[in-house]
Amino acid sequence: MNQSFLVANWKMHCTAKQTVRSLKQIIDKSSLFPKTRLIICPPFTSLAPANRLILNTPIALGAQTLNHRSEGPYTGEISPQMISEFCDYVILGHSERRLLFGETSHDINLKSIAAIHHALQPIICLDGQSDSTRKFTDRTLNTDELVIQLLDAIKAFPQNSNFLLAYEPTWAIGSGEAADPVEVNNIAATIREVIFNTMGSETGLSVPILYGGSVTLNNINDYSKLPEVNGALVGGASLDPEQLVQLATTIQ
Ligand code: PGA
Repeated sequence: MNQSFLVANWKMHCTAKQTVRSLKQIIDKSSLFPKTRLIICPPFTSLAPANRLILNTPIALGAQTLNHRSEGPYTGEISPQMISEFCDYVILGHSERRLLFGETSHDINLKSIAAIHHALQPIICLDGQSDSTRKFTDRTLNTDELVIQLLDAIKAFPQNSNFLLAYEPTWAIGSGEAADPVEVNNIAATIREVIFNTMGSETGLSVPILYGGSVTLNNINDYSKLPEVNGALVGGASLDPEQLVQLATTIQ
């Protein structure tokens, strides 16, 4: 795969005005990273103005969650149709959604299938923890649990679905301590093997597998060189537009 992916998860940061200001700076410098697929995931309220700005630029947009239903009496929720007017991707299964908002592997599967049906590519995050015992601080690397989580997430996916996967150990998110690159590469290889065996060689070879958790300018090179890893999902370090441009330039 000769394209690198950089997903910027802006979480609950940036008003629409701030998003527009940052995006203009990023778009101005986008010729610096021609080989990086930069996917910016701002809050819902920024998606419409951001969408107008990114037209005819190499930058893509994503949402940070969705409700799997199409419409109805679900106060405060947002459907795949609603966000698909403004973006092409959606982050699903982030540990913060799983831990703080009680989303289960089953929910992530429903959301992913709904996303795919509306031409949104899910970026599915895996932390290798079980729904019932998840902790932000758990450092155990449980490959069996990760495989279960992966299989639950992709259950009944339509043939030839487009999606991305991100390994994000909870303890590394926002902690300033990133996971060991060798371990990340091994996990990415395991994930690819599972996809290869369950969804076939075409998807197995083409699915982008990313690493996320305290990626910064200081360590992004450690991950961008890994043979099994196709990019990074970055939170905190992606909020500053200049740093984001440098990250996108470095990772390609
Ligand atoms: P971080 O967040 O880069 O701030 O650790 C990553 C994430 O939450 O996906």
